[in-house]
Amino acid sequence: MQAIKIVDLFAGPGGLDIAAEKLGLAVTGIEWDDDACATRRKQGLATVHADVREVDQSEFADANVLTGGPPCQTYTVAGSGAGRRALDDVLRCADLMAKGKISRADVAELGDERTALVLEPLRWALEAIKAERPYEAIVLEQVRTVLPVWNAVAEVLEQHGYSVVCAVLKAEEYGVPQTRRRAILIARHRHEAKLPETTHRPHYKGVDRSAGDPTKREWVTMSDVLVKRPKPFTVISNYGTGGDPKLRGRRRHDEPSATVTGKIDRNRVIGPNGTENRFTYPEAGVLQTFPADYEWRGKKIPQQIGNAIPPILAAHVLAAALDLDRETLATAVKDLSGGTITI
Ligand SMILES: C[S@@+](CC[C@H](N)C(=O)[O-])C[C@H]1O[C@@H](n2cnc3c(N)ncnc32)[C@H](O)[C@@H]1O
Repeated sequence: MQAIKIVDLFAGPGGLDIAAEKLGLAVTGIEWDDDACATRRKQGLATVHADVREVDQSEFADANVLTGGPPCQTYTVAGSGAGRRALDDVLRCADLMAKGKISRADVAELGDERTALVLEPLRWALEAIKAERPYEAIVLEQVRTVLPVWNAVAEVLEQHGYSVVCAVLKAEEYGVPQTRRRAILIARHRHEAKLPETTHRPHYKGVDRSAGDPTKREWVTMSDVLVKRPKPFTVISNYGTGGDPKLRGRRRHDEPSATVTGKIDRNRVIGPNGTENRFTYPEAGVLQTFPADYEWRGKKIPQQIGNAIPPILAAHVLAAALDLDRETLATAVKDLSGGTITI
């Protein structure tokens, strides 16, 4: 692959972009949120502060890699609710886009606004193909229920000479101290696409972390990365399963965190002798595998953190998508985690 230049759509506070930088890659993010842009600027990440839909793909003609984590509604495929209808809308639009039968303006006007947003990366990819400069690699990330959308995007890309893999990845299997699940698409133009190899064991409630595949590392715990927080501690989630407060999720310090969401500041952290407090913003960022000194700015910082792809997961995905060597990946993981996580 030639010198890598990434354009990152819906770039948020920079989860993917800080990973790219640590891997030594050039990246520019497009993001419209003032708060996320304030964080990005403070962090020195190259940023275009704009609505992705208003940006012309040709303005980034020199980018040879496309990445993106569009905001999505959840496409619950089970049952016949609004989620299923939204998914059908998206799949129909993807098909029409692929046939060149639908314009950018048409997509923007269709259904839910997020229907159009989730297809923006496909629009960019098709415009690059039309301009005879197809992206050499494409990486997309979102919540697990978006997998059927990525499968539809994959079908279109395959018709244009791409090899594509899509899967739901478990973040803890890549050394992230969190049991987050994410739907990933990796596409390579005229080159075989592959998923990142797992480096750590999956977490199962009640199963010892030393059990399982001996060729993989043990999953990383909250206290492995929150080195200054006194142990033991238990995190009690803000949510109760099925809305029942009695069924609030609990995680001990020697487990990975539950999914870090935009409400992580509402979780109660019960420490030694029953002391109670909340995670600080840097701690929440560290659970998401941002560097401990990441310069969070603007308002709604928990939301910025919860929106991001964990940078260490992003580093694994980018390394697999771009054929980077293991040493480059290991150095990036070490830098991101201040040496608390190794692969
Ligand atoms: C799921 S987050 C992506 C996070 C990012 N991948 C990261 O790792 O930090 C989606 C982002 O898209 C942004 N966004 C939503 N609509 C947008 C639009 N039309 N143009 C630009 N950014 C948009 C949101 O503000 C949010 O930061």
